[in-house]
Amino acid sequence: MVAPLPWLLTLDQESPRLPRRVFVAGCGTGAEAFAVRAALPAATVVAANFSPASIRVAQQTQRDQPAGKRIRFMTADLTRHDLANVVGRSFDQIVCHGVLSYIPKPVVALRQLAQCLSPGGRLCLGVNGTAHFSTPLRRAFPVRRLGIDPSVLPRDRSWQRLLQLQENIDGGAPQGFFSDLPDWYMGGDCFGPVLHSLDLAAWNRLFRRAGLYFRGSFGTHRALRTAMASAATALFMPGPRDTVAGGARSRASRLVSPPVARQAPGAATALG
Ligand SMILES: C[S@@+](CC[C@H](N)C(=O)[O-])C[C@H]1O[C@@H](n2cnc3c(N)ncnc32)[C@H](O)[C@@H]1O
Repeated sequence: MVAPLPWLLTLDQESPRLPRRVFVAGCGTGAEAFAVRAALPAATVVAANFSPASIRVAQQTQRDQPAGKRIRFMTADLTRHDLANVVGRSFDQIVCHGVLSYIPKPVVALRQLAQCLSPGGRLCLGVNGTAHFSTPLRRAFPVRRLGIDPSVLPRDRSWQRLLQLQENIDGGAPQGFFSDLPDWYMGGDCFGPVLHSLDLAAWNRLFRRAGLYFRGSFGTHRALRTAMASAATALFMPGPRDTVAGGARSRASRLVSPPVARQAPGAATALG
């Protein structure tokens, strides 16, 4: 599932109980774990990543932020066969965002994550679909399985002209879309050796192989992501029709009201 946290928390209408044990799998430098900690102050939160450098950054942030104190950050590879022994079991929610698409055999990690779930627990995944922006680029350049480190490309950045060519042919992408991306980003999503951008049916086959059952999916256009990560998500949350319509009306009136409303704190929150 790809969805902002507030939306995820409303998903399970049959059992509206908030998660009590949350595992943030592939937590990077910790942003997602801090967001989970803030949203679920009573939950146990464990967060793991295979890069010790990322975990050190997360722990440093944790020292600087009292609000993030009760998160257990640890270094662990999600594909290790004894993951559940290392990070724990019986998690009723696992969030794993932007990670599986970069793991050579995602099913291996999915099997391990399944071991960490409690019966009926939920695994919320953020994964790339076929519409990922890098798909046409990776198809156009024969680097798909090789992987190129942009730092070893010609220093005069002449290789960027190739990207500009892609932007100009076949309605490839708006000008600068690829060629202005920072090197570290290019190195992963555009030229990295592994990037699974699969359709939902293909992801679903992997879930089944890992013994997981698919509950639902959520996608949003790239341009709407900022809004979806803000308080505006309330507009899209499942709920009775009259509540949703009422919420939409009051928010819409705040968003389109004259300058007085734009200065109100509520309006700023709704706009994110
Ligand atoms: C695009 S980042 C996403 C980080 C974080 N989930 C977020 O949304 O901000 C991908 C992260 O997955 C981590 N990662 C990749 N493969 C992994 C593995 N096998 N085990 C643990 N972490 C992994 C990388 O180190 C990186 O921090």
